[in-house]
Amino acid sequence: MTITAPDSSRPRIVIARAIFPEVIEQLAQHFEVESNQADTAWPQDEFIRRLQGKQGVLTTGGERINVALLAACPDLKICANMSVGYNNFDVPAMTAAGVLATNAPGVLTETTADFGFALMMAAARRVTESEHYLRAGQWHGWRYDQFAGVDVHGSTLGVIGMGRIGQGIARRGALGFGMNVLYHNRNRLSATDEAAAGNARYVTKQELLQTADHVVLVLPYSAQTRHAIGAPELALMKPTATLTNIGRGGTVDDVALAAVLRAGRIAAAGLDVFEGEPKVHPDLLVCTNVVLTPHIASASLPTRRAMADLAARNLIAHLSGSQPPTPINPEVLGTG
Ligand code: DGY
Repeated sequence: MTITAPDSSRPRIVIARAIFPEVIEQLAQHFEVESNQADTAWPQDEFIRRLQGKQGVLTTGGERINVALLAACPDLKICANMSVGYNNFDVPAMTAAGVLATNAPGVLTETTADFGFALMMAAARRVTESEHYLRAGQWHGWRYDQFAGVDVHGSTLGVIGMGRIGQGIARRGALGFGMNVLYHNRNRLSATDEAAAGNARYVTKQELLQTADHVVLVLPYSAQTRHAIGAPELALMKPTATLTNIGRGGTVDDVALAAVLRAGRIAAAGLDVFEGEPKVHPDLLVCTNVVLTPHIASASLPTRRAMADLAARNLIAHLSGSQPPTPINPEVLGTG
């Protein structure tokens, strides 16, 4: 829908999926806005058609910005993701085309860490599995080992991907649950950051997988992180361990994970992201010892609103010649 009378002197933008109406109204004070409030993802050719003559687009993390789209949309100056992850962007191609990429870091850290912790606990303590059993009318009384899971308090947490969200999970584990925290990351944190993250100890991925009782992944997706956890890595884990993924689908080999869950080679898993989502591999759907959620780790209303606001601030700043708050490829700034 176009929500203001066209004014050719104002920049024109597209909002690629439904977002908060108040944010659309705010953007409409600055731009001619075309928004997809119907919320059916546009196929790429339709997306390209909508972007003709547009200088900006607010994307939600799933819309692919690639070489072909950039070549077909020469007026585009900025793509503002309302997500911290940006594997939908071909950043080098955007930089080469002089198109600014922005994301929404920081504002979702605590909400997403809360959810990672919740998912890990739900997996460890078999929350959804036991709820399904109860709802199915199968509960006929207490039993000493009914849905007995594994403990979280006092156990060893292993965080792979120790950015802001990973550090938030580490803090929760150490301060709230007396967990011993191990982490593995591309770069080791400073001593101050390790102390703030519950005296987290940097270890190799192999040591972490062999030692941790609860492994939590917060990795971005890239060619380097694809299947960072596959059959060889899963084979290193303890049979009593859990694996939780709130980073990106594809960092875990879902087929290999389903196989070890079915075989009881690890205790349980909690997954918020999937290879090829929103499709979920059928092998996972039939495993009872996995908690499955539809990519909602950042989904509290205040946080989703803050993410949309940050994307809007990036659009407004860049298209009015000011410094955008969270550029991914700042080398584009000042070149146009
Ligand atoms: C993010 O911000 O990357 C979250 O996964 C929500 O999309």
